[in-house]
Amino acid sequence: MTGHGEPRIIVALDFADVSGAEALLAALDPARCRVKIGKELFTRAGPRFVERAVGAGFGVFLDLKFHDIPNTVAAACDAAADLGVWMVNVHAQGGPAMLAAARERLAPRTVRPLLIAVTVLTSLEAADLAAIGCPGEPPQRVLLLAELARNAGLDGVVCSPQEARALRASCGADFRLVTPGVRPASAERHDQKRVMTPAAAVAAGADYLVIGRPITAAADPLAALAAIEADLVAPLPDAAVSA
Ligand code: C5P
Repeated sequence: MTGHGEPRIIVALDFADVSGAEALLAALDPARCRVKIGKELFTRAGPRFVERAVGAGFGVFLDLKFHDIPNTVAAACDAAADLGVWMVNVHAQGGPAMLAAARERLAPRTVRPLLIAVTVLTSLEAADLAAIGCPGEPPQRVLLLAELARNAGLDGVVCSPQEARALRASCGADFRLVTPGVRPASAERHDQKRVMTPAAAVAAGADYLVIGRPITAAADPLAALAAIEADLVAPLPDAAVSA
């Protein structure tokens, strides 16, 4: 689980233009949040943007979801570590050898990024899994892949807040759970279907909350961040989980 006092909120810097990401980065405080740089921003702005965010004091989650042969993924994780990122992720479906290679490549570093696995993308339903030859329900696969990641020595997984409670129970207290699909009660859901409030996600076992549009698309992003922080310390209502 997270250490006391460290920021739980990871702001997803999902912007079509680099200047939007730069402006938000300049307004945010690295003591209050971390930032996530994903495929879109990385492809537009490259490693220099990552270095700029790291240089400004932000913990950076480099969300590139590496999935390739073991040697290639291990080398990519090494390159991410050279950029000074706080967290990097790989696909658990790359298999045990790929996960172990990534973990082993980072092991000699005195300071290394947290190594996190993506289990089943939340955009995939049972029918999608069947179409790619993987029968069964997504939650079973999530659990199997999370245990594969834990056994390979990874630090945690990205998961839906709905899966957090079961994963916390099966993978233990030290396994990091990173959850997108988080929405303050009053916020628009956008395309996220199964959401939880920030406080409910943490109560379910989430360590870190990935939050994009409720902050990035707000008229006042800093006020939106402050409202989410307030939600995190407010008492939980009985029905805290949005269906
Ligand atoms: O804007 P919103 O809060 O929905 O952004 C959520 C972020 O988390 C996006 O960057 C999205 O790509 C990412 N994500 C997700 N669901 C997953 C994995 C990642 O929404 N299962």
